[in-house]
Amino acid sequence: MKRLLFFILTAACSVIFVYALWRDTDRDWTRYQHQFVKTLEPANRKLVSGGIKQVIVDDLKRVDRCTTCHVAIDKPQLALGEEPFKAHPGKYLQWHPVEKFACTVCHGGQGIATETLAAHGDVKHWEEPLLRGQLVQSSCASCHGDVQAIQEHVPLLVRGKQLFQEKGCYGCHVIKDFGGQLSVELTQVGSKPYQLIHADFEMMPHPHDRIHWIEAKLRAPRLLNPGVRQDQLPPGEEEVFPTAMPHFGLADDEVKALQVYLLSLRDFDPPTSYVTPAKPEPAPVYATAVDRGRAVFQRFGCVGCHNVDGVGGRHNWNAGLGEEVPSLMYVKMYYSEDELRTLIHNGRQPAYRGRVHRPVPPVFMPAWKDKINEEDVDALIAYLYSLYDKVLQSSTDGPAAVAASADVAVQ
Ligand code: HEC
Ligand code: HEC
Ligand code: HEC
Ligand code: HEC
Ligand code: HEC
Repeated sequence: MKRLLFFILTAACSVIFVYALWRDTDRDWTRYQHQFVKTLEPANRKLVSGGIKQVIVDDLKRVDRCTTCHVAIDKPQLALGEEPFKAHPGKYLQWHPVEKFACTVCHGGQGIATETLAAHGDVKHWEEPLLRGQLVQSSCASCHGDVQAIQEHVPLLVRGKQLFQEKGCYGCHVIKDFGGQLSVELTQVGSKPYQLIHADFEMMPHPHDRIHWIEAKLRAPRLLNPGVRQDQLPPGEEEVFPTAMPHFGLADDEVKALQVYLLSLRDFDPPTSYVTPAKPEPAPVYATAVDRGRAVFQRFGCVGCHNVDGVGGRHNWNAGLGEEVPSLMYVKMYYSEDELRTLIHNGRQPAYRGRVHRPVPPVFMPAWKDKINEEDVDALIAYLYSLYDKVLQSSTDGPAAVAASADVAVQ
């Protein structure tokens, strides 16, 4: 009996051993390497060696094995027309030699893994998904502080940064000590831990990674954060409004550009030998106070809440005035320059609610006195007044036109 058991166990061990050997020859990477070597002329086979390839870059804390499968990435003379056997596009590996930069510093992914899915970061508990295609532009700013110098290679990053200002995102969000504090700071949103995004993940389809989360947030912020209505709650608990983040109706290319910019805001500090510092931007020159005011209106994100040209229309739950942030087209009619200055300095909570039993409106007018200097506030006032003048010019009849002619008569 004992002898029989001994034979059975020995046989089982041998089977497992052979199976393990066989599995090892059938790994993702061994298959790719065999497939690749078969395409080579016998004379060229010496140029590539088999086995796991590994690049260690201590300075950047990288151990990357990507070249195990991407065998011809820096050998264009051997490369084939399909992944993972293509050569690297452009001159990126000449500018950033593999032994000094490795791959994940630009591409994300899991450097040490040797299975395709795991290496590309498409597995649970890996928070650096592969940055495919143009998304890789989000890595460059960690080292190239002077983005202008490489702008032809990073069009989406440049555009995303510009859009962040044009759309007025700074009105509610701080990046590196600049911006309004109505909402969360975004200085490191590109490395936000998944644990803190968990609630949003539950509201969106897979894949649950930062790339898709940011996209979802930009396309339809209310889908991720719809609030809780009074009738869904036990009596006595206060309703929760949907997110105060406006629906911007961004076009696809705007989403992509903002996504690249937001992903570039990371918690990653490479050693100074890898970094080119930012150059101070030259101070812009404006022809008139109104032009300067328009630029200030945009730079500080007034646009984010009051909309382009101050036309209003952004939602503000339970605020009087049709649950909207007010338009600024007519402020010249109700505010003297001094009153306007005081209002911009001190900000204001919405004066009354639509319905008193519902919570206070989420969007308020921030105080700007510590942020905007006096010349800029003067320019803002000139700009805000000019909005009313524009209304007058564009209407040909009605009370506004009458008011306009009265103005002219007085002058
Ligand atoms: C086990 C083999 C393997 C490893 C290891 C591997 N890759 Fe890949 N890679 C592939 C294959 C196969 C493809 C083509 C299919 C695909 O896109 O998934 C590919 C495609 C890619 C692409 C193009 C994706 C696209 O959609 O155009 C990039 C970029 C890439 N890999 C980067 C990396 C980086 C960076 C690493 C290291 C962290 C890495 N790979 C490690 C096998 C591998
Ligand atoms: C300096 C940053 C940088 C480094 C380092 C880098 N890449 Fe790239 N990689 C890029 C850029 C930029 C592109 C072009 C993306 C585009 O415009 O489509 C690219 C494209 C690719 C592609 C083509 C598929 C695609 O997504 O466009 C593959 C595959 C790839 N890289 C793999 C690697 C591997 C493997 C390494 C390491 C040996 C590496 N890269 C190192 C920046 C880099
Ligand atoms: C880990 C830091 C790092 C990352 C990430 C990085 N670079 Fe670089 N890059 C450098 C360094 C360092 C140099 C060499 C600078 C020099 O020549 O003095 C360089 C050189 C370059 C050059 C050549 C500049 C010249 O004038 O010769 C270009 C273009 C460039 N990088 C573009 C990019 C792009 C595009 C990305 C993102 C896909 C990127 N880099 C990502 C550090 C980085
Ligand atoms: C009226 C104020 C307001 C404006 C303007 C605004 N947001 Fe937001 N944003 C919020 C609020 C409030 C939240 C937090 C609640 C939520 O996640 O929905 C938020 C959350 C976010 C988040 C998620 C951050 C995190 O860590 O959870 C991102 C990313 C974001 N906003 C990007 C933008 C971008 C890009 C713009 C400009 C196109 C913008 N926001 C404009 C109010 C605003
Ligand atoms: C975070 C959103 C937000 C930002 C950013 C913001 N505002 Fe406001 N603003 C409001 C809200 C909400 C009100 C209405 C307050 C109320 O109901 O009393 C308001 C009111 C005003 C008013 C008074 C309008 C009226 O009809 O009474 C002026 C003027 C104004 N804002 C100018 C600005 C300027 C200039 C900036 C940029 C420096 C700015 N706002 C940035 C939310 C914002």
